This record gives sequence, C-alpha cells and structure tokens, in this order.
Amino acid sequence: MAEKIWFDVTLLTMQDGDEPYGMIKDAAIVVEGDYVAWLGPKDEIPNHYDYEMIFCDGAFVTPGLIDPHTHLIYGGNRIDEFERRLNGVSYEQIAKEGGGILSTVNATRAATEGELIESAKKRLEHFCAEGVTTIEIKSGYGLDTDNELKMLSAAGKLNISRKIDVVPTFLGAHALPPEFSDDREGYIDLIINDMLPKVKQYNLASTIDGFCETIGFTHVEMERIFAAAKEMGFSIKLHAEQLSDQDGAALAAKYGALSADHLEYLSEDGVKAMKEAGTVAVLLPGAFYSLSETKLPPIDLLRKHNVPIALGSDSNPGSSPMLSLKLMINMAATLFKLTPEEALAGVTRNAAKALGLKDRGVLEVGKQADLVVWDIDHPAELAYHAGGVQVQTVVKSGEIVS
Ligand code: NIG
Ligand code: FE
Repeated sequence: MAEKIWFDVTLLTMQDGDEPYGMIKDAAIVVEGDYVAWLGPKDEIPNHYDYEMIFCDGAFVTPGLIDPHTHLIYGGNRIDEFERRLNGVSYEQIAKEGGGILSTVNATRAATEGELIESAKKRLEHFCAEGVTTIEIKSGYGLDTDNELKMLSAAGKLNISRKIDVVPTFLGAHALPPEFSDDREGYIDLIINDMLPKVKQYNLASTIDGFCETIGFTHVEMERIFAAAKEMGFSIKLHAEQLSDQDGAALAAKYGALSADHLEYLSEDGVKAMKEAGTVAVLLPGAFYSLSETKLPPIDLLRKHNVPIALGSDSNPGSSPMLSLKLMINMAATLFKLTPEEALAGVTRNAAKALGLKDRGVLEVGKQADLVVWDIDHPAELAYHAGGVQVQTVVKSGEIVS
C-alpha cells in the first residue's frame, strides 16, 4: 500500500520562497497513491490520515532528484579517446578526424536495441541508487531514421521499471552522419521529412534537441529544424554556446525552448532572450570538468536576470562519462560557485522546469510523491561531499524503491 505518513522529518521542499531550501522542520508528509496528500508541521497533521507511520528521527527529505540532460543510451565506449585527450589531442580535433560522437554512432548502430537497453540499465542503476527518480535521455547516436528510432524505443523500454521515469528527447541534429558529409541539406531534409514525423507518429519523444556548434549544426540549420519541429508541436531544447558563441541560446529562446544547455560562451543578450522566453539554463559541470574547460558559464548574469539554473550530468561516453548526478551538485558548487541551495534547486525544482514537468521537482500537495530520505546532518552536506551514497530511502510515486 502506498498510503504512508513519513513522520518526524525535516522537509527541504525546494519551494521558491523566503525560507532557505523551503525548509519545514519537525514535519510530516502524507503520501496517498502516487501523490503528496498533505505536508506540514508534524503536530498539525489532520487525524483522518490513519495511515502507516514511518518514523524518520528528523531526517532530511528532498524531492526525488531529476537529471535533465543525459545521453545514457549508447553502444561501446570512448576510453581510447579519453587517453588521446590526455595525450594532448583536443575534443574538436578528435571530432574532425571522424572520432568523438561519430565513433559512438558506429558502435550504437552496430548494437541491437536489447544490447542498448542492457548497457544503459547498468548505468541507470547508479543514478537510481543516489536518489534520481526522473532522468532525461537523448537519442543522437543513431543519425539515421531506424537507429534514432531504435534509441528512443530503448529509452521507452527503460521507462517500464517503476523505479525511475525516463523522459526521451530526440537529438537527430547531434552530428552530421558520414553518409551525408557532402550533403548537409540532405541530412536536415531527412530529419524534417522523415525522422520528426516518425518520432511524432510513434509517440517516441515530445521534445527535440540539437548541437549548435562549429562541429555540429549552424544557427541557420538549427532554425530550419526548429521551425519544422515547432509546427509539428514539439518542445525545443538546444546544446548551445558550449565551445563558442553561436547565438544558439537566443535562437532556442525564440522558439520558446524549455532549456538551453552547456552555455559556457553565453552572452548577456543570450541571457536576456532566455529570461524573456522562460528558457531554463541547464549547466553541465561534468562536461566542463572532463574537457578541462576554463571558461565559466556566466552565472552572475543568469542570477542578475533571474534565469532559472538547472544541472545535468550530461552522462555520455565522450565529453562527460559521469555516472552521478550527486557529484554534479558538488561540482556546480566547487567549479561554478553555485551555493549549495542553488545547486540543489538545479537538480530538483529547476530540473523539472527544464523538462517541462509541472508535477514534480518540489514537495507540495498534489505533486508526484518522489522523495529521498537522506543520511545527512545539514542540507549543504549534499554539495560538500564529492560522491558517496548518502541516501537512506528512495520513494518513487509513493513506493519505496530502495
Ligand atoms: O552534451 N555537445 C554535444 N554532445 C554531447 C557530447 C556527446 C559526445 O561527446 O559523445 C555533450 O557534451
Ligand atoms: Fe549533451
């Protein structure tokens, strides 16, 4: 039975307000079915809730963590490239030689859907164990219709477990596939005329993404894709301003994007455009760290213009082989100087916004009962330690899953 009262907890509701972390001390939270039915001070709990009580001895409880940006499904690995980069070859150089993303494309095309599911499942377990209850997963290593659909279908099958919700995103515009190396327009036509309609028809994703970069797609190319996708009713995301300023975030904002992601080279005009459109800034400290990037995303400008900041692991075989969202909380604090509270909002409230999910990300009556009970003494401890599992209990849609 999912009807339960989590009693004597310290709630970090993460609601946006005056109280740091939206904290409610000496609290209780009542779960009915999949949803939060009541929360507040434990001595005000209405007595008609005659449910099983779980005594928590003051433990901290947060919303389930949400990773809004991953490439968790892929074939093979890129360990050789990791070694080459450590021997001085750049990420861009490797990409130009046909390695990088394209080497993962070859391995992903060669893998069956079942193999993709099995390898992704193993990675997914790491995220589940640390309290992630919703995770976004992009396609983008298929780069032809069948293989893009295969990746999205694999993401849908990972969704079957009750432990975690998988939100699939179509990333056909991740890199130019080798068979179109002399025909960029041809590939964009394929995305628009074949891939997008099929993703829609089979209901495989409701959001599309792209890589707007010198080694990805130009501003003009992305705009063609966005215009077509918008027409078909897709939501928009974009890998923008990761390695250079392509004015990608403003383009995404023009199409009402849910988020623009990476953003190290984002300008103030880009920040303003995002603010106006309500586009969330998804920062990816794992990619920043793995690529030894030195240019910081413009955190102060994002704060100044009140753009919500989310954090993702960007888990992928090349630029961010991260298996931990919790580590991103630490990295966002140490590398980007986010406060521990901002960093936690980045993997809860603002991560939900970046995925357009209104039913989670904060603890509030009526929201999905995705909770984590933590073994910590202070909320900032979640940012303080790098790694280590500090989870006591994970609750997904009301059910205890670990
Ligand atoms: O988010 N930037 C482009 N895409 C991925 C990299 C994927 C890869 O290197 O395989 C990213 O960092
Ligand atoms: Fe990415």
